[in-house]
Amino acid sequence: MVQRVGVVGYPIGHSISPAIHQAAFDALGIAARYERWAVPPADLAAWVASLREPNTLGANVTVPHKEAVVPLLDELSPTARAIGAVNTIVQIGGRLSGDNTDAAGFLRALEEVGGVPRGGAVVLLGAGGAARAVAYALLQAGVGTLAIFNRHADRARALAAALQPYARGPVAAFPLDAPQRAQWLADCALLVNTTSVGLHGGERLLAPEEVPAQALVVDIIYNPPQTPLLADAARRGARTLNGLPMLVYQAALAFERWTGQQPPLDRMFAAARAALS
Ligand code: ATR
Repeated sequence: MVQRVGVVGYPIGHSISPAIHQAAFDALGIAARYERWAVPPADLAAWVASLREPNTLGANVTVPHKEAVVPLLDELSPTARAIGAVNTIVQIGGRLSGDNTDAAGFLRALEEVGGVPRGGAVVLLGAGGAARAVAYALLQAGVGTLAIFNRHADRARALAAALQPYARGPVAAFPLDAPQRAQWLADCALLVNTTSVGLHGGERLLAPEEVPAQALVVDIIYNPPQTPLLADAARRGARTLNGLPMLVYQAALAFERWTGQQPPLDRMFAAARAALS
């Protein structure tokens, strides 16, 4: 019987997860069909219940459902519980288990460029769902000094407070235009953009000359492959990383959870690049 699996969101048309996962299932000869499910919030509970059917491996969850699915599942991994969001559901024997592979996917992506910088501060732009997973991952990896800058400062402060129990040192929170920003940027070893700024056109949060030349600059946006932030960083001589490796690694970790098999990473990267070209 062909196994059922897929990604749920609303809307979902833009997702390249079907291309990445189907390539992996096909490469390993696993009879599974990865679908794309557009489910409005009002239908989420009924959709989650349908995952309990025996021929279902599970699902990926994306915007706007990552937090809303949490109370609908039977159990959560410690990571999903700490982040408060689920991007992967695994169905075994009718039970639904929620995990979050965004955090580990982010760390695996960072390993491609030398791993989490040792010593030096991390500056995080944004305080939404993606920021939560990235910040948790960094704190789990031992980052000691973290500053969160966000347009709505109350959101930055709420995220900092929620993550403080996982941190070795203080997690600082500022409004995006705080005067402290210049010093944090000048001193940081890693800068990560988790906001949606850069997805469209030439928009940027930082002036080009503010982008730290000494830091590793990561933008979790993968389309376009080079946001204005990354272009500015490259021009200033900084090392850069876009969001594509994080996307593929979070997918690979979900694939491993569903199948128990080693994901064919080369095929997954190739499928992601083809879907974006
Ligand atoms: P996601 O789950 O993808 O992180 P989200 O929770 O909607 O999505 O978060 C989007 C992030 O981008 C937030 O940090 C948001 O800032 P606010 O919390 O202040 O809204 C940030 N963001 C989006 N558009 C922005 C803009 N034009 N300028 C600055 N920050 C922006």
